[in-house]
Amino acid sequence: MQELEPSWPGDPRRELAAGLAQPAAQIAPKFFYDRLGSALFAAICQLEEYYPTRTERAVLADCRDELATLAGTRRTLIDLGAGDCVKAERLFALLQPRRYVALDISADFLAASLARLRREHPGLLVNGYGCDFTSSWELPDEVPRAERMFLYPGSSIGNFAPDEARRFLEGLRANGEDDGQLLIGVDLVKDPATLVAAYDDELGVTAAFNRNLLLHVNRLLGCDFALGDWRHVALFDPVQSRIEMHLEALRPVTVSWNGGERQFRAGERIHTENSYKYREDDFVQLLALAGWRSVRCWTDPRRWFAVMFARAA
Ligand code: AVI
Repeated sequence: MQELEPSWPGDPRRELAAGLAQPAAQIAPKFFYDRLGSALFAAICQLEEYYPTRTERAVLADCRDELATLAGTRRTLIDLGAGDCVKAERLFALLQPRRYVALDISADFLAASLARLRREHPGLLVNGYGCDFTSSWELPDEVPRAERMFLYPGSSIGNFAPDEARRFLEGLRANGEDDGQLLIGVDLVKDPATLVAAYDDELGVTAAFNRNLLLHVNRLLGCDFALGDWRHVALFDPVQSRIEMHLEALRPVTVSWNGGERQFRAGERIHTENSYKYREDDFVQLLALAGWRSVRCWTDPRRWFAVMFARAA
């Protein structure tokens, strides 16, 4: 696991080149999160159409007394995909963590978030690490293994396919002792129009977030995507129960980099993200399959978003 520094974990070039060479080209969603991408995601969370953030906040506000009783206080709070750290920070008063450990793929964005956090919570022990959750990871020894609470808000779990999500949740379970806890947000299936609007807002912030990926890939792979050649596409696939985001070529495009090239026809797409939407019971079952116990689930009155608490044993 890397200390915080303005670099991208691992060697992304091979992964990016392989994804672009696929018959159906793809770029993994982790590449959204350069500094600007992380800031654009924080802006998405404030959009009217993007209901998950405020719905999760409302669910957490409603269940706070019960959550406090179940979770207790003075744990090591491990924030997975911390970003601007705001979601975790809202829980500090309730959970009174002994230590806050923030992990994010965008290490330099996280460094700026933690600088702010340290100023505003001077008494709190804070650690931050650049970390790619899509590969295997383990927390460093300096983070105590006992009394961990993993926080995975915002339905980021939806960005994994269900079988990957199960493996990820099993990995989390293995990353603590039997006293480990998990607090996770899960976006639920709802009418497709609401879902699509959340990923294709009128202001175009999600489109900018999606297209900014190309600028990040240009820097990482040294290639020459031109923003004007690509448009943002968001659609709901009811069979797979997922939102898909793509970038669609507006005209024939050739993209080249050192050692490779890819030609796109007009209308051809690059698949950039899946965001799976669950039924409540299915996700409870997934948690159980991954070894998590005593699952407690809270939702909003429209049942749009669920917050689940679980224990390792
Ligand atoms: C980070 N993740 C949970 C977001 C989602 O809803 O899948 C990423 C996102 N993509 C477009 N808008 C937000």
